[in-house]
Amino acid sequence: MATKTGVTLHSTKNPQNENQRKSMVELLQKHLGTAIDLSYQAKQAHWNVKGMNFIAVHKLFDQLHEETEEYVDKIAERLTAMGGQARGTVQASSENTLLDPYPLDLVKSEDHLKRLADSFAKWSGAVKEGIEESDEAGDDLTSDLLTEVGRGLDISLYFLESHFQA
Ligand SMILES: [Fe+2]
Repeated sequence: MATKTGVTLHSTKNPQNENQRKSMVELLQKHLGTAIDLSYQAKQAHWNVKGMNFIAVHKLFDQLHEETEEYVDKIAERLTAMGGQARGTVQASSENTLLDPYPLDLVKSEDHLKRLADSFAKWSGAVKEGIEESDEAGDDLTSDLLTEVGRGLDISLYFLESHFQA
């Protein structure tokens, strides 16, 4: 059945309230698109970075890609566990992402570090709003997942920012 927002669910014996699941699926679609976007923002940095501390930042960006890919899978499978249909293609993600497009011409390590820090901070803020939204909806399991993601994002942000903080 479609909601006012057009979310449809697969039939499931998941005991969670259907309207709650629909609103959480809608919430998680945005975070799935954002996670996919961010995972390839980190790869874009990994592939193109040059300059000071090259090996260290080249490896850090790949590690950030792998961590965000884990969020991609966890978010998608929480969404499908509630009866949702994951919108996980590149095209769908570009419609759902909460992030600004990553510049394609960045080269210097400091520029990538600062730009990725912007993206991690932006998603972290949206995740915190998502935690509140899922708490208000009474969905402890989605709230717990987003809390785990948010904790990881804040550590990643700290790793990025420590390169340019005094
Ligand atoms: Fe690589």
